Amino acid sequence: MPSRSEIHYFGAGPAPLPTSVLERAASVLLNYDNQGIGICEISHRSAAATKILSDAKASLAQLYDIPEDYEILFLQGGGSGEFSAVVYNLVARWVERRRQRAVAELGEGKGSEVLERLKNEVRDELKLDYLVTGSWSLKASQEAARLIGKEHVNVAVDARKANEGKFGKIPSEAEWTRSTRPAFTYFCDNETVDGVEFPAFPSVLEGADDDTPVVADMSSNFISRAVDVRKYGVIFGGAQKNVGNAGITILIVKKSLLTPMAAPTLLQQLSLPVGPIVFDWPTIAKNNSLYNTLPIFDVWVAGQVMQSLLDTFGAQKIAGQESVANQKAELLYGVLDAHPSVYRVVPDKAARSRMNICFRVHGGDDAREKEFLAAAEKRGLTGLKGHRSVGGMRASNYNAVSLEAAQKLAQFLQEFASS
Ligand SMILES: Cc1ncc(COP(=O)(O)O)c(C=O)c1O
Repeated sequence: MPSRSEIHYFGAGPAPLPTSVLERAASVLLNYDNQGIGICEISHRSAAATKILSDAKASLAQLYDIPEDYEILFLQGGGSGEFSAVVYNLVARWVERRRQRAVAELGEGKGSEVLERLKNEVRDELKLDYLVTGSWSLKASQEAARLIGKEHVNVAVDARKANEGKFGKIPSEAEWTRSTRPAFTYFCDNETVDGVEFPAFPSVLEGADDDTPVVADMSSNFISRAVDVRKYGVIFGGAQKNVGNAGITILIVKKSLLTPMAAPTLLQQLSLPVGPIVFDWPTIAKNNSLYNTLPIFDVWVAGQVMQSLLDTFGAQKIAGQESVANQKAELLYGVLDAHPSVYRVVPDKAARSRMNICFRVHGGDDAREKEFLAAAEKRGLTGLKGHRSVGGMRASNYNAVSLEAAQKLAQFLQEFASS
């Protein structure tokens, strides 16, 4: 049986965690803070749990320089849960803003006229913009359509159209067909399956206001590069790639987006969905993420991972992690590009992910790709098989993948190509 140090795992999520954090985790599972009981056994409402929560928030706030007017929430339901929660919350806010405007213009006591006007505005003006650049933003847009109807979902760009039906490019912003005042614009910063990452914040979304906020799914590039949080209304990410184990989703939301929210009765009158209470961001925020039982162990792991980045990179904070991630990605892409007769990097150079490096071996020949995987495994390089929906190879370069692991993989790529 191989030991942990003999294996370099490049899986896309769940993904490697720092061994030092896992060693401490093993110990706190048995006995947390000399209490004689383990971390999974303590109450989520205990002082110890509250401290774990506030330490994790403080580390994240420090890493990303999160301003005071943003809230950090810990949720359950995974990244997919937030596909739905984004719609529930931001549509409820859009409706309430429109109701308030209608009341201001029509006057108090005009309930039925206000309702009539709202029905028309929902029908004619409620639009959610999605930039579909890969499998996860596609899923998010499909969930939005399932919840409120496809007539309200504007796919401002479908990247497959620019790339022979496959994801792998981000079409230029000039080609995006955006709504005038969408209730929000959604994008997935890093597409885990397709290896596509936005190189920078889209310039056409600069200056978005609270009525047309920008929402980003950063599940697979969370805390891997510097982010100007102020440009976003909402950032979310499942923990299980760069931050921790599966079980929690971290959400950074501008406080002004948590209010006002339409009453459930109004949403029902407008035939719009009312979200489950556990996805109701204002409720979760009011309860310091403890509306219901939060898996505190998961928060502890994420907190330890974030604190270890702060310890490692000091004043550089996330920029330190970003430069290591870039160094590893450049090393791997460098070897792949150097052997075009053996390897083909799937996404366009301008949209290549630093986190999920997707490539084909010998033009995608099944036998040769199997041979590649078997040879890699012999060297202790595992988790390289691409997502089942697209095939090929995927080397995930998350934060806990060491430079040494990337170097070993680069050496193997080199030798396989020359063999
Ligand atoms: C970018 C991205 N968004 C969302 C998800 C869905 O996350 P979950 O499985 O936690 O629902 C994933 C999962 O891999 C992902 O990579």
